[in-house]
Amino acid sequence: MTQTTTGPAAVPRAADRDSAITVRGLRVRYGDFDAVRGIDLDVRRGEVFALLGTNGAGKTTTLEVLEGFGTRSGGSVSVLGLDPAVDRAALQPRMGVQLQEGGFVDELTVLESLQLWQKLVERPDRPERLLERFELSGRRDVAVAKLSGGEKRRLDLAMAVWGTPELVVLDEPTTGLDPESRRRTWDAIQELQEAGRTVLLTTHYLEEAEALADRVAIMHAGRLAVSGTLAEIVAAQPAGFSAELPEGVPDLPALRGTASREGARVQVRTDHLQDDLTEFLTWAAARGVRLSGLRAAPASLADIYHAVRAEEVSR
Ligand SMILES: Nc1ncnc2c1ncn2[C@@H]1O[C@H](COP(=O)(O)OP(=O)(O)OP(=O)(O)O)[C@@H](O)[C@H]1O
Ligand SMILES: [Mg+2]
Repeated sequence: MTQTTTGPAAVPRAADRDSAITVRGLRVRYGDFDAVRGIDLDVRRGEVFALLGTNGAGKTTTLEVLEGFGTRSGGSVSVLGLDPAVDRAALQPRMGVQLQEGGFVDELTVLESLQLWQKLVERPDRPERLLERFELSGRRDVAVAKLSGGEKRRLDLAMAVWGTPELVVLDEPTTGLDPESRRRTWDAIQELQEAGRTVLLTTHYLEEAEALADRVAIMHAGRLAVSGTLAEIVAAQPAGFSAELPEGVPDLPALRGTASREGARVQVRTDHLQDDLTEFLTWAAARGVRLSGLRAAPASLADIYHAVRAEEVSR
């Protein structure tokens, strides 16, 4: 009897079935500039994943590689089980893409653009549905060149979600949108998720990531500084408390975290919130120091973002 040491190659591993995007050690160079410096990324099927980061961090560059438009200089990439550098034609019908800068034919009207899309894209959908969904019905006969920035963004998004693809990659879908249009874009993203689709998006709006994303990553200078669910990345960061001291209080108690003072306000960042807060309050009580505006809170996404920007947080 022969012994089989390897399983049949055609059966995907559980990780492949659950994963929409797997990136390992991705590097992208432009000339002698390293735009992406070895990142790992996992986007699971059916989740909304938000990629945050500073300007020039490498977000668009990373998305371009996933979309098959960009060339990587190192690492491995799997999108829906395919390598976008090799299988872009096979990926295209399964994936909707919104670029940071849309490429339209300026002379076509909004409706003509969607009709052209209907001919080009293999997924069935109707221009009317998208005109209505993205509030472009009133602009249907206007040439794309004459649309406002926000209207163009909405048309771009309509094309990305055309036919409700398996995977949708959106580069700053709500930049330049008014609050109502932003809200409707969020609804469209949530609808995709409810339909079991996977969405990877970039955004500069922290509240957008908080509202939409199952998991987030923050990128800075070509690297991923943190990634995980919001709860995970918040829990991994120091919590903080702050209070205002009356005038003439010169010293502070010894704490395990780091305290900084700005005017009357003292701010403490610590991994030992309960211990340090107890120490601080005991110290204040013993000296009869009256505190005002006492606040204690876990790190917010904004705190973490600022720490990443200041390069205090990195893996
Ligand atoms: N074609 C190119 N040639 C040379 N450098 C480039 C090119 N495209 C991007 N870069 C540089 O690579 C870095 C990453 O750019 P990228 O567009 O990926 O950033 P980003 O994170 O999307 O930023 P933003 O938030 O501003 O959109 C930047 O420093 C940018 O100037
Ligand atoms: Mg970008």
